[in-house]
Amino acid sequence: MALLCHPVKCLNLWTLTGAGTAPTIAPVLAHVLSAALQGVEATLVRVEIDVADGLPVYNTVGLPDSAVRESRERVKTAIRNAEFAFPSDRRVTVNLSPADVRKEGAAFDLPIALGILTAMGSIRDTGAKFAVIGELALDGQIQPVRGTLAVGLACRREGITTLLVPRDNSAEAAAVEGLRVLPAATLRQAVSLLNGETLAPAPELAEPPRAAVDDVDFADVRGQSHAKRALEIAAAGGHNVLLVGPPGAGKTMLARRLAAVLPPLGRDEVIEVTTIWSVAGLLPRRGGLMVTRPFRAPHHTISVSGLIGGGSPPHPGEVTLAHRGVLFLDELPEFQQHVLESLRQPLEDGRVAIVRAKGIGNFPARFLLVAAANACRRGCPSLDRCLCTPAERNRYLGRLSRPLLDRIDLQVELPALEAVEFQGNGVSTTSAAIRARVLAARERQHTRLAGTDLTLNSEMSPRLLRRLCPVAPEAARLLGAAMTRLGLSARGHDRALRVARTIADLAGASTIGAEHCAEAVQYRGLDRSWRA
Ligand SMILES: Nc1ncnc2c1ncn2[C@@H]1O[C@H](COP(=O)(O)OP(=O)(O)OP(=O)(O)O)[C@@H](O)[C@H]1O
Ligand SMILES: [Mg+2]
Repeated sequence: MALLCHPVKCLNLWTLTGAGTAPTIAPVLAHVLSAALQGVEATLVRVEIDVADGLPVYNTVGLPDSAVRESRERVKTAIRNAEFAFPSDRRVTVNLSPADVRKEGAAFDLPIALGILTAMGSIRDTGAKFAVIGELALDGQIQPVRGTLAVGLACRREGITTLLVPRDNSAEAAAVEGLRVLPAATLRQAVSLLNGETLAPAPELAEPPRAAVDDVDFADVRGQSHAKRALEIAAAGGHNVLLVGPPGAGKTMLARRLAAVLPPLGRDEVIEVTTIWSVAGLLPRRGGLMVTRPFRAPHHTISVSGLIGGGSPPHPGEVTLAHRGVLFLDELPEFQQHVLESLRQPLEDGRVAIVRAKGIGNFPARFLLVAAANACRRGCPSLDRCLCTPAERNRYLGRLSRPLLDRIDLQVELPALEAVEFQGNGVSTTSAAIRARVLAARERQHTRLAGTDLTLNSEMSPRLLRRLCPVAPEAARLLGAAMTRLGLSARGHDRALRVARTIADLAGASTIGAEHCAEAVQYRGLDRSWRA
């Protein structure tokens, strides 16, 4: 089955060292570019192969993890099964440089194999610059890998214009403008592409992943106009929301409809989101770009590392998978307290840095938080019909700390739905109508924030808020009084002002008025009514 070293190709490697002595084989050096993932970014890595005389050993150096070290067996077997020569009687050294970047996963299989085949003369070294990623199966098939888009972006950044990728990752790589993508399904195909013996096939595109929210509409939700209004404000200005109410009032239903009223992702956002999903290994096989906003709804038993990211090497958590989309935490008080507290930093900074001995992961985490909760552990329909003691009620919502609640701009209480409201023929606002108003309000924010790198009211720094958002005197007085009455912190005050700005944007007003502030303030401090 396996073809041994082709004599003509092997001859190229031989040099005679003096008359009468046995021929010794001069060392052969070859190199191929590849990339290592660090967080959601990739760094180019030079894979160097040295094939030399000596004991027949195979060493991998340059901070490889166990998957990279194990590549030896896959590479050897795949090369043989693809009917190429493997230098099994010589010393093979694989060096991954720079040595201080940790290399993980099986994506180095293909560059290592191609480097060995270049050293063996099976691939003509034309001096052309290209990068390669891909995992090898034992039969020489090339398996898809994580993070292809990040690698493509790294290539563009470093001026590498050609990237050889597993066929199933080719659609993703093709999203990088100006990058020539060589898709290969087998090692043999990769070799003939590099030798110019075959033309590169077109990248294969699958259907883009469908959003989980395609078939839901706000018109399905009866009543709850107050909550719908809050969600419209949240979508318009990117404000976090907490829905509190009895079981069956429609909290989960409402939250699941939020992603559908957000504006479509912009071109740069599509690349950002796809890169994250690709690094997390969540893009479907042959998947193209993520064109819909993510909606993530992790269960309340999730760990800190599942929510925020973690592990070694660091992997992205739910907050990162929800980047540019919605993170829905249903039954908020049921989450472990330290898990909830870990949300505070990403909510404030819009990114997470995970530092581990095996590397740093920098992950973006700019998401819209929608949380839902019952007001008490028993889920009583209203405060006057609540069977829980004040201490029990305090304990339940008390799991949500003040600093966490401070970061949730819109806190809305939903009443239990009355039968007449549920069965009535009243017309409910549709998602299309809400989306149109959201888009108009966002347009006003873009105009106001032009020249900054921000797009939403919720992202404005206190300084920008003062500079760009004029407040009518009576509105300022109202906010000041609310600060005293509700015990709002300075952060709470500014957050209410940002919400007021969004409400004014929805109304098309250029100055924040008292009515906007009054509405914004009523969305704060809701938990007080249920806490003694
Ligand atoms: N406002 C509503 N309009 C129409 N249907 C509703 C409404 N509220 C609840 N329902 C019906 O009740 C079901 C449950 O609603 P949902 O899961 O949203 O309640 P919830 O408030 O999240 O309850 P829980 O506190 O138990 O999680 C929905 O699938 C829907 O059929
Ligand atoms: Mg629910």
